[in-house]
Amino acid sequence: MPAEPSEAAEPDPGAGRHLAPKPMSASRLTTVNLVFPGDTNPRGTIFGGRVLQWIDMIGAMAAQTHCRQVVVTVSMDAVEFRAPIHLGEYAILTATVNRAWRSSMEVQVTVEAEHPLSGERVTSVEAFLTFVALGPDGRSAPVRAVQPETEAEWARYEAAQQRRAARLAFKSEHGG
Ligand SMILES: CC(C)(COP(=O)(O)OP(=O)(O)OC[C@H]1O[C@@H](n2cnc3c(N)ncnc32)[C@H](O)[C@@H]1OP(=O)(O)O)[C@@H](O)C(=O)NCCC(=O)NCCS
Repeated sequence: MPAEPSEAAEPDPGAGRHLAPKPMSASRLTTVNLVFPGDTNPRGTIFGGRVLQWIDMIGAMAAQTHCRQVVVTVSMDAVEFRAPIHLGEYAILTATVNRAWRSSMEVQVTVEAEHPLSGERVTSVEAFLTFVALGPDGRSAPVRAVQPETEAEWARYEAAQQRRAARLAFKSEHGG
């Protein structure tokens, strides 16, 4: 049984308290894309813009699965492309909603490259995105909280709070 952090007893401020929290695992999504020639650059490895599109798409789907409302992307943290994905390999994307606040949600997307014959996998990209739920009036709307259930999920949940603070500090500093 993982130790629950002290703030577990305190609901995230402003979160959709009238809605039951949803387990982190309930909105985790995975998609697999076979890398085609149209997805690659002239060197035969994946085009970065294509990966960003896939990341944004699965991230939005995970956020919508969590809150069951329309969402928009409000930010994407710096993305590092650690390893190429080659033509004919599988790009495996996994999205997890790490935490939700009042109307925003942090989604972590991991992209792995799998060789179709050997099955060898390497992590290619990891990205953190923030999505905001919109109400029928087009304004940001409250969402339900995320409920971590394992030690690893609690670690994600805690780290998300620190990243959010850094994001909002950056936004404030740069006049956003
Ligand atoms: C997303 C949007 C509706 C937010 O509008 P807003 O008036 O700033 O709304 P709020 O100030 O209430 O902020 C909403 C939430 O976003 C968060 N947020 C705003 N900017 C952020 C940023 N750069 N990074 C992380 N979170 C951010 C706020 O902290 C707030 O979170 P909370 O409600 O969980 O506390 C507006 O910025 C927008 O429409 N942006 C364009 C979205 C878009 O077109 N995306 C691309 C296509 S999907």
